[in-house]
Amino acid sequence: MATKKTRASAESVEIIEGPVVRFAHQSEEDFARILDFYGIAWKYEPRTFPLKWDGERIAEAFTPDFYLPDIDTYIELTTLRQPLMTEKHRKIRTLRELYPDVEIKLLNKRDYLRLLAKYGFGPPTPKSIEGIHRVLVSQAQLRRRVSELGAQISKDYAGSPGEGLVLVGVLKGVACFMADLMRRISLPVAIDFMAISSYDSTEAGNVRILKDLDESIEGRDVLIVEDIVDTGMTLNHLLAYLKAREPSSLKVCTLLDKRARRLVDVPLDYVGFEIPDEFVIGYGLDFRQLYRNLDFIATLKPEWMEASAAQQGKQSPK
Ligand code: PRP
Repeated sequence: MATKKTRASAESVEIIEGPVVRFAHQSEEDFARILDFYGIAWKYEPRTFPLKWDGERIAEAFTPDFYLPDIDTYIELTTLRQPLMTEKHRKIRTLRELYPDVEIKLLNKRDYLRLLAKYGFGPPTPKSIEGIHRVLVSQAQLRRRVSELGAQISKDYAGSPGEGLVLVGVLKGVACFMADLMRRISLPVAIDFMAISSYDSTEAGNVRILKDLDESIEGRDVLIVEDIVDTGMTLNHLLAYLKAREPSSLKVCTLLDKRARRLVDVPLDYVGFEIPDEFVIGYGLDFRQLYRNLDFIATLKPEWMEASAAQQGKQSPK
């Protein structure tokens, strides 16, 4: 994939171009950008398949536009011009005969949407969901990053002298992230949850424990798992609270870091994505308790939030 990360610890949602690829057509470049947006790895024209030989000499060959390593599939984009389409169909038929193990798809718009569906996505902007402005982190980006975090945590805690790793999730926003992250950790791991009251943002430190841990964490390696760190006040309180329980170690893993809004400096050991200062929903995060069940993280249309807030009273945006 022609993208690279901007930071070692957190994957930026901004796509930054890597090595320059010279595309033959604009449609190819558009397709590559869409794959990038969804975090799908690709290679441009990585392999040429000989189709006809004249003695030792290759008389005809075919180079598919893209290769998607995650699904081991070549992609050829179609053009609308019929004679070229017919020629392309013929070449692809020959390629399939000569290389039966090679998976290749000729992609028209309908096929392209199906391919996105195969990765678990709908069209880029889920217009069907009322209020959604844009997708900030796609399902593929979430999957990929959560796997990376799980692998890193497994590596870091392997052979730890503590009495076992406990993931402490902070309800409710952490529900999706916790469920996915714990399944990406390849060590024996215990889980526990805490619930914390919303604070009045004008009163620093006004945090109340609604549900405490079920088990003792003394001597354990504790990893606090958060969906988002915003002002940092919740986490700051939690760190002090849990430290007093004498764990062997105490670290933090947050899926989202909205650094621009930080009021208290809190240490973050694992960060999924650093996000801009926008109200986000999905993958556990809510607006008025809704949207937690979305498979991606998105922003809401400001006018939609205002209208909704005017109807039902104010919610302090995270
Ligand atoms: C979110 C999130 C954190 C907290 C972070 O919880 O889960 O616990 O906000 O914000 P801060 O850095 O400004 O303290 P929220 O209060 O939205 O509750 P929820 O998880 O139940 O939705």
